[in-house]
Amino acid sequence: MLTHYPVLITGGARRIGLHCALRLREAGYAVIISYRSHHPAIEQLEAAGILCLPADFSSEHGIQTFITCLQQHTSGLRAILHNASLWQADPQPANGSAFSTLFHVHMLAPYLINLACEPLLRQSPTADIIHISDDVTRRGSSHRVAYSASKAALDNMTLSFASQFAPHIKVNGISPALIMLQDHDDPDYARAAMNKSVLKTIPGPEVVLQAVEYLLNNPYVTGTTLSLNGGRHLTN
Ligand SMILES: NC(=O)c1ccc[n+]([C@@H]2O[C@H](COP(=O)([O-])OP(=O)(O)OC[C@H]3O[C@@H](n4cnc5c(N)ncnc54)[C@H](OP(=O)(O)O)[C@@H]3O)[C@@H](O)[C@H]2O)c1
Repeated sequence: MLTHYPVLITGGARRIGLHCALRLREAGYAVIISYRSHHPAIEQLEAAGILCLPADFSSEHGIQTFITCLQQHTSGLRAILHNASLWQADPQPANGSAFSTLFHVHMLAPYLINLACEPLLRQSPTADIIHISDDVTRRGSSHRVAYSASKAALDNMTLSFASQFAPHIKVNGISPALIMLQDHDDPDYARAAMNKSVLKTIPGPEVVLQAVEYLLNNPYVTGTTLSLNGGRHLTN
């Protein structure tokens, strides 16, 4: 349902978050994004009428500063899309600070933002929280232990918040496998990555938007995590 209350998308100034922000705006939603780096797309977002707020979730102070700023800019929220993420391999040798950053971005930020924004979400006639996780949590990863563990915790928060915030706020997750390549990925990597799914495609960010719209529009789904993986679980 469209309301005048905005959808918040964290990390919305590039790639999947940017695509969802612009497409939801086109569909008539008010949208707020958070950004860490000042990407050129911010001009495009602002021109589309999207409010762009700075945020660095790598510390509790940064998360709380963002929450205060958000509360000053809106009196309600239609939905929150927790998209901000750090695709970080474990450093060698491993260290606590790298893990701590992923803990803050993938776990503490969604946790504190959800709790602080519950009253804002309750202003909207229908309200949603969507956690963007990662298909890697099915199997773990030998070189991204911290990334995978922190995303798995985000999946688990979907269950807890869905029960805590029902019936007014639905809480769901989306668990994508490869959606889009990085600029530096070479063709061999792309081919190998594509062949890991049975659908053998790299779909691009529109499939995430489709999953988001499904969750926003369906009144009978909460506490679920939607696999968006091209059938990758059938091969590995
Ligand atoms: N792309 C894929 O194929 C794929 C596959 C599986 C899952 N996913 C999930 O889908 C979501 C979007 O993916 P993506 O590839 O579009 O991600 P991305 O390009 O890595 O963008 C993530 C966003 O998060 C922001 N961010 C990173 N660290 C932050 C921090 N400390 N504080 C605040 N914001 C921070 C980034 O800001 P900066 O621009 O400043 O770095 C960026 O805007 C992520 O949750 C990702 O885990 C994506």
